[in-house]
Amino acid sequence: RTVAVLAGGLSHEREVSLWSGRRLASALRDSGFAVREWDVDGALVERLRSDPPDAVAIALHGGEGENGSVQAVLELLGVPFIGTSAPACRRAWDKPTAKAELARAGLLTPEWVALPHTTFRALGAPAVLAAMVDRLGLPMMLKPDQGGSALGAQVVTESADLPAAMVSCLAYGDAVLAERYVTGTEVAVSVVHDGTEPRALPPVEVDTGDGVYDYTARYTPGAATFHCPARLDTPTLAALEETALAAHHLLGLRDVSRLDAVVDEEGRVQVLEVNVSPGLTETSLLPLAAATAGTDLGRIYGAMVERAIR
Ligand code: DAL
Ligand code: MG
Repeated sequence: RTVAVLAGGLSHEREVSLWSGRRLASALRDSGFAVREWDVDGALVERLRSDPPDAVAIALHGGEGENGSVQAVLELLGVPFIGTSAPACRRAWDKPTAKAELARAGLLTPEWVALPHTTFRALGAPAVLAAMVDRLGLPMMLKPDQGGSALGAQVVTESADLPAAMVSCLAYGDAVLAERYVTGTEVAVSVVHDGTEPRALPPVEVDTGDGVYDYTARYTPGAATFHCPARLDTPTLAALEETALAAHHLLGLRDVSRLDAVVDEEGRVQVLEVNVSPGLTETSLLPLAAATAGTDLGRIYGAMVERAIR
């Protein structure tokens, strides 16, 4: 069986994707697959047409690898791939769209507003920022409406810091997602379909001490401490797993996803987002959860490759 692992690309998360891709490729090799590692560029379509692998595993993060663009090409060419369909990727990738869909279904997610950069240009930034503070309070979470690895995301505690935070945020996207800041326990729950049904892996708790779980904390070994399973009571762990599976199904996701959430001070699960291409790096959370569950990337992704080919 030949599997092409797609990684790299030109998104802001290119480096992260190369790390994920290398780890996934080596895990699949250990599981007995003939693996090709492709750094995704404009030649991808020609490569796939002239030398189609039995299946494709996507280790791309950000941009075209998560917004459905690459998935649409694979669907066009009829190449089996692991992961979510193009239309569902598009929905999940856009954070405000995904939040609205999950909120409609009754899941909790921090209150939010999404504002395109043109709003600020057209209507005057100070007035819009003041309205945002009235609505969401401070501190407030700002994120690019699409993106990953916390790039451009920040917690804003003072009104005076909002304009600069807005500018950094808009450097990574065309719109800002502003959320009410929820304090509590940060957790991530991976969903994998490595057996007969998708299942949730044990929730991972992220402890950043006094810091925030930003890009550096994510990819610097030792910068954050992880607890798997999370140090929460059994009903809360069950609620987290239930929420991750519910989000996976509601958004029409396939094979693999990771829910990022906060368990708030009242013990409720507040959904932050769902990722269709969870990081697989040395410091990423899915591989850690897999180990706690007594399995590994080779077995999980190997099972998904087999199913994609069938
Ligand atoms: N966007 C990064 C890779 C993650 O969600 O793990
Ligand atoms: Mg993400």
